[in-house]
Formats: sequence, structure tokens, C-alpha cells
Amino acid sequence: MPLVPMRQVLDEAAKGGYGVGAFNVNNLEQIQAIMDAARATKSPVIIQASRGARKYANDIFLYHLMVAAAEIYPEIPVVLHLDHGNSPETCKSAIDMGFTSVMMDGSLMPDGKTPSTFEYNVKTTREVVEMAHAKGVTVEGEIGCLGGIEDGHGAGLDGLSHLTDPAQAEEFVKLTGVDALAIAIGTSHGAYKFTSKPTGETLKMDRLIEIHKRLPKTHLVMHGSSSVPKELQDIINQYGGKLKPTWGVPLEEIQKGIRNGVRKINVDTDSRLAITGAIRKVFMEKPEEFDPRSYLKPARDAMQQVVTARMTAFGQAGHASEYAALSLAEMTKRYASAKN
Ligand code: 13P
Repeated sequence: MPLVPMRQVLDEAAKGGYGVGAFNVNNLEQIQAIMDAARATKSPVIIQASRGARKYANDIFLYHLMVAAAEIYPEIPVVLHLDHGNSPETCKSAIDMGFTSVMMDGSLMPDGKTPSTFEYNVKTTREVVEMAHAKGVTVEGEIGCLGGIEDGHGAGLDGLSHLTDPAQAEEFVKLTGVDALAIAIGTSHGAYKFTSKPTGETLKMDRLIEIHKRLPKTHLVMHGSSSVPKELQDIINQYGGKLKPTWGVPLEEIQKGIRNGVRKINVDTDSRLAITGAIRKVFMEKPEEFDPRSYLKPARDAMQQVVTARMTAFGQAGHASEYAALSLAEMTKRYASAKN
């Protein structure tokens, strides 16, 4: 199956009432881990690359690895998505490369750090929607700002500083025509999200429900949604790591989100934790090893395990064979006819 537009995957998820994990990648092993998990669970999947990942891996490497994934796993609908595009130019370069979905994060200025105004966010996101839809490519926007920093992107504030205002979210979708909307409800990128198990005071699920009531047809996106499981923290610390105690987003809260309009769930940190724990274990237990495969294979297996668990919990498992991929040309026609 060719790479699939994200809009189709999210529309299907809405019909089926499930969520789809969007997993970040930087290299071959991470792509393999996700695709093996998708095959094992028969899941459609979103693979996403941030600007940092594109710089680390090189766009051409990344794109061709994804084309290989689509060829090797033909039964899996797979989306290639740009995570946190900081400007229309960045989104354009991803579209030109062959990404089937882009995020224009106009909640921050192009420096990726300074919170922007509502007007700036609407203007830049609208510009990307026009450019992307003309090519059948999906657009995710963001209103409100997540906490933390991811690959140098983020205001570095706590998760509660710039929560999404539900009335503004409604206005934003109307003015921009985005396919999916990332909202800020108290989560942060990275491992340090909450200092204790989140409550309604720190993870604002009520706000998410209110946004969904105002925008019942908009696909909502939860960023910063790693669960940061204690078992993965413990493995890292057991083998010489120094993670401080921390809490992520409990799976049951994500499942509540999925019952209330969340269709895309962003996960990066859990994969990073799984990989690092597995590598540390090999280094501690077998210091004589020097073949990279001796630690990259366990790392890939550990990531596959955590991704499999997320695909099962989000409900996407079992849905891979329900639809044939739409081409970007077909999506372009759909966007054009929806306009008229
Ligand atoms: P985590 O850091 O919680 O995995 O979030 C990743 C993310 O939101 C990518 O955009």
C-alpha cells in the first residue's frame, strides 16, 4: 500500500471509535519496531518525524525508509507525518519530499519557542492548509501550547501555562479548515510531565470534553501522551541511569480522550525509554560486546513491545485491512469538492 493521507486514517478511526498512535522516528530500527508492531496487531499507523529527526537522519534517508516500509508491509496503512512544523516553508519542504501529512504549529513563532498570537496562528495555519490541501496532504494545527521541549521545539513552560481555550479552538478550526487539532490540556513533551499521578487539576480532561462538544467533527490530537511507565524507568535506573521519579499520561485517561474525539495520540518518550533501557542492560550485562546489533536488536524489540501495547490500548489493533488507501490525487479532489 502507498503512504496514506492522515485524513483518511483519522476519518476511519472516527467511524470505528478508536485512536491511532503517532510514533516518532529518527532511524531504521524505530521504523522497523513500529511496522512490526503494526503487523503483529494488524494496525493502521502514523509515523512522524520532527524537524530534529529530519536533520538527524536526512530527509532522503527518512523518506526512502518509509517507502521501504510501505513496500515491505503492504497490508498496513501507514502515514508519514511532519511533527511540529515551525513555518509554512518547513511544511512545504515536507510536502515536496512526499510526507502525506504535516503539522503547522503556529502556536509558537518560527523560533519554535515563543508563544504566538491567535492572529498569527490562524494566518500561518490557513496558508499551510491551502498549500497542503491542493496536494491532498492533511494538516494538523495547534491551539494553546504544550509544556516542555521536544527536539528543541517548545516554549519550555509547564503544561498548564497555555491551556487551549475552547471558544478559541472553535474559532480556529472555522477560520483555518484544519483536518486535526492538537490541544493543550496539561501535558508536556518529554519524560517529566507530572510530579505525581495526574488528577483533574493537572490533566484537564474536562477541557478536552468541552472542546469535543464544541467541535464534534474535528479530529483531536493529544501530544505529550507517553505514559512513562515505572517499569521502563526502573530498567534504565537499574542499569546505571539517573531518571528522577516522574509520571506520564495514564492509559485510562487517553482512552477517555478517545471516547471524546481524540483520534491521534503522539508518543515518543515511551519509545526512547524502552530503547535506552534495553541498550543499558546489554552494556552492563555484556561489557565485552561491541557488535551494534547485540544492543540495537534488543532495543528494537523493547520498542516494538511498548508500541504493540499502545496500539492495543488505543483500539487501532485489528483495523488495518478495513480500507484501501486513498491517493493524494483523490484527496485533492475531495478537498476541492468540499470547498464548493
Ligand atoms: P511524549 O514526549 O509524551 O512522547 O510526546 C511526544 C509528542 O507529543 C510528539 O509531538
